[in-house]
Amino acid sequence: MGAIKQAIPSAVIMLLSSVIILGLLHGICATSIPPPTGRYQVGSSKHVFDHITQDDPVAPNKTGTSLLITLFYPTKSIPDGPQPYIDNTTASVYESAWNYTAGTIEKLTSSVQQNAPFLQGHNDESYPTLLFGPGGGGPPSILYTALLSELASHGYTIAAIDHPYEQPYLQYPDGTSIYGLPVVYSFSLELFNAIYEMRIKDFAALIDYFPTFTSKLNAPFNTTHYAVFGHSLGGASAIGAMLQLPSVIAGINMDGLLTGDPANTTVGVPDEKRNVMMFGQQDHTPENEGTWGIFPKAQTGWWREITVDAALHLDFSDAAIWKGLRKNDQPEVGTINGPRMVQIVRAVVTAFFDNLMGEKEAILDGPEKKWPELNFVGYGNGNYTYNCLKEGLGLGTLLGRKYIFPLFPRPSSPLRPSGRPLLPPQDLILCILYHHIFVYLG
Ligand SMILES: *[C@@H]1O[C@H](CO)[C@@H](O)[C@H](O)[C@H]1NC(C)=O
Ligand SMILES: *[C@@H]1O[C@H](CO)[C@@H](O)[C@H](O)[C@H]1NC(C)=O
Ligand SMILES: *[C@@H]1O[C@H](CO)[C@@H](O)[C@H](O)[C@H]1NC(C)=O
Ligand SMILES: *[C@@H]1O[C@H](CO)[C@@H](O)[C@H](O)[C@H]1NC(C)=O
Ligand SMILES: *[C@@H]1O[C@H](CO)[C@@H](O)[C@H](O)[C@H]1NC(C)=O
Ligand SMILES: *[C@@H]1O[C@H](CO)[C@@H](O)[C@H](O)[C@H]1NC(C)=O
Repeated sequence: MGAIKQAIPSAVIMLLSSVIILGLLHGICATSIPPPTGRYQVGSSKHVFDHITQDDPVAPNKTGTSLLITLFYPTKSIPDGPQPYIDNTTASVYESAWNYTAGTIEKLTSSVQQNAPFLQGHNDESYPTLLFGPGGGGPPSILYTALLSELASHGYTIAAIDHPYEQPYLQYPDGTSIYGLPVVYSFSLELFNAIYEMRIKDFAALIDYFPTFTSKLNAPFNTTHYAVFGHSLGGASAIGAMLQLPSVIAGINMDGLLTGDPANTTVGVPDEKRNVMMFGQQDHTPENEGTWGIFPKAQTGWWREITVDAALHLDFSDAAIWKGLRKNDQPEVGTINGPRMVQIVRAVVTAFFDNLMGEKEAILDGPEKKWPELNFVGYGNGNYTYNCLKEGLGLGTLLGRKYIFPLFPRPSSPLRPSGRPLLPPQDLILCILYHHIFVYLG
């Protein structure tokens, strides 16, 4: 009897504690994609861009008829609680390919609001529109929500391009869907190169379409200046696309193997003459991938090559967060803590664009105690000359780095440029005055 009497309360306690544990787990899931840290809320919407791709290497009949555009943008609308992260089919496609328990990814939430209103009268800054290319054959753009929502929360608009039949699964805004290459797939060199060329054309086509698109949406997006970035093949093609697109002012390649013109040592690697960054996993160094040595050396613009300790290829996507939800290690993610990796990728990429806009960004200046995981493989501060009065605040930091900081030295800045200023002295004096009046005092 005594045993039964005692058994009841302990069963109740067990039940209660499992309720508490479930509650805690639920609490963790409810905030699964770390909320973005910028000053705006974030909206997202999907759009079909009816665009013909001739000789499409992945379309079933070799003619692509559309691209899926996913926008991430700042909004003032406040979310009424946790929002769905991604559609259930994309979740289950990746759960099964990457061996997550069914439902694990489906349950995740984010704070990104589908179809939230655009920020109208958004005149306080004049950022370029950012165009994003996801990894070749996946993950699709929505699986970079952690990074793309962060940029939007800082005021940037991102238009991400997914190419149908290449991404493993895409859900269109009308609910129809297209299955593409399997999640786990080995590319032939021929297909890899064909997709690279196709992605460059996709960037170009979206830029052509963007003014029409923006006016159709009645959206306050920049239609004259763009920056391109991407992961893996998306990053490599961003660097290739820049060369052909004069309205692109900067680009980032996250862990992509460079190919095409930027890797063509036969005719010579081109100088982009614009801000570029190679941002890679732990061992993505010139010793392991020659192009990551040759390409940066050809740049006369501002450039950085930075790697992240203990990070692997998929850590640049939301897989960095997911990895904590699986018992054993997922291939292609490193041992770096997932939320920490998200923090690093968000900080470095946001700093790159803020730096382009003339803000001072210490994280890009060289090793810091705050970011011990970052390795500065190489850097250049640009040796082309600017007219700071003509080009304005956007280049203030570049000028600041080159000409002002030596007058006001900052500690721990091994990348501080030295050497002869390239501007004639009268311009230099004007620029210093300009920088003082508008940047330091303004
Ligand atoms: C190619 O296939 C798509 C659907 O997959 C179809 O919409 C399109 O009309 C086809 N194009 C040609 C030229 O057959
Ligand atoms: C996913 O499925 C669940 C039910 O299984 C449903 O409650 C939820 O709304 C679905 N999520 C999306 C984004 O459609
Ligand atoms: C998933 O499990 C299968 C069967 O055990 C295995 O072959 C495959 O490598 C695993 N894939 C991943 C991404 O863990
Ligand atoms: C577009 O971006 C460029 C570069 O940041 C900026 O100079 C320009 O003012 C922006 N245009 C608008 C309309 O905001
Ligand atoms: C390099 O460029 C030249 C000239 O465009 C071209 O003929 C050659 O095939 C390219 N090489 C590679 C490896 O892409
Ligand atoms: C910048 O530096 C590169 C490499 O040292 C050099 O080839 C190039 O001529 C320089 N450009 C200018 C504008 O000085």
